[in-house]
Amino acid sequence: MPAFDFDTVHDRRVTSSSKWIKYGERDVLPFWVADMDFATPEFILDAIRARLEHPVVGYTDLPDELVGAFVDWADRHYSWCVHPDWLVPLTSLVPGLNAAVLSVGDDGDASLVMTPIYPPFLQTAPTNHRRQITSSLVLHDDQWVMDFDDIERKVNDEASRTILLCNPQNPTGRIYTRDELQSLAEICLRTNTVLVSDEIHWGICLEPGLSHIPVATLGDEIEENTITLISHTKSYNIAGLKSAFAVIRNPDLRRRFEVAKSGWISSVSPLAYAAATAAYSDSSSWISDLQSYLRSNRDLLTHSINQLPNLAMAAVEGTHLGWIDAREVPVEDHAAYFEAHGLGFSDGVEFGAPGFVRFNFATPRSVLTRGIKRLEVASACAPTN
Ligand SMILES: Cc1ncc(COP(=O)(O)O)c(C=O)c1O
Repeated sequence: MPAFDFDTVHDRRVTSSSKWIKYGERDVLPFWVADMDFATPEFILDAIRARLEHPVVGYTDLPDELVGAFVDWADRHYSWCVHPDWLVPLTSLVPGLNAAVLSVGDDGDASLVMTPIYPPFLQTAPTNHRRQITSSLVLHDDQWVMDFDDIERKVNDEASRTILLCNPQNPTGRIYTRDELQSLAEICLRTNTVLVSDEIHWGICLEPGLSHIPVATLGDEIEENTITLISHTKSYNIAGLKSAFAVIRNPDLRRRFEVAKSGWISSVSPLAYAAATAAYSDSSSWISDLQSYLRSNRDLLTHSINQLPNLAMAAVEGTHLGWIDAREVPVEDHAAYFEAHGLGFSDGVEFGAPGFVRFNFATPRSVLTRGIKRLEVASACAPTN
């Protein structure tokens, strides 16, 4: 009997789940926003309940217990030696992306992101009076890879001050190798550009033998030049109970980040702190059981898509997101086409990649199987060129 149950279908509509109420009464299975349909592990829920034993739920400072749990976790998992002073608590990760971009350089400076990318990355530059520059990931041997020459040339030409990295990558599911991360980090050092690394999907590594590498662990100089943004919320399925950390070793960068965030990132909820402490203290089999369930889901989806002549998906190494190339389906609006076939996907247009859709496969196998059947019908019914 496995310790955790991933097969039960929970009715999430009764909780106003963003994912499940989006399509109202329409028969559309939601495979869009990146949260999971599984029950949050009981030990996290217990920690939240335990906090509610105290009758006052007021403003709360970063608990020492959480700092200790995070520092131990970073050491245990990644041999990453984090000093408590480097931690800046955040109410969630996306405001951290904005604060990072705002904290480096001046109005009008450039900031580079690699597309396709989780949509809020594309909003950070315009929101913070920076110029957005992009470099496309390139499909090479079934993997989405960074184009280092293009990145370095653009960063130099446009005098970019920040590069935003997402690893594991949303939406392609890449887990970058040590060499790839090293190459990017060295471009940052050569060009005097700060590396902002979103590592929220650290816990969802599906490919056996591959593991997440925090970019800050690649060396002192790289760590001094990096703002890491990290959270437990994806790996423990508490995306709605938000909290995150910025980990910033460089004191000057940290001071500027603190200034940039002040006024619009408020204090974290005590319930979120309780959940975070339980997550970073976890020694159960949750992460490995989750990975193995998601790996089977990924395999099922990959196998099915490989049978379909007009759809393609590169290897998904991490995350619970499949990035489907539907450009062979000659329709104007791909997300609307699949929606008409009962499939609620994220639209590639929002990620900077028209013709693609993102399939969140973190759902019980019975729901996934229904989704795959619909995908087969959608593929078969598609017009031809
Ligand atoms: C790469 C990435 N970063 C950040 C977030 C959102 O994090 P938060 O809800 O903590 O702002 C997501 C959510 O899907 C994500 O995939």
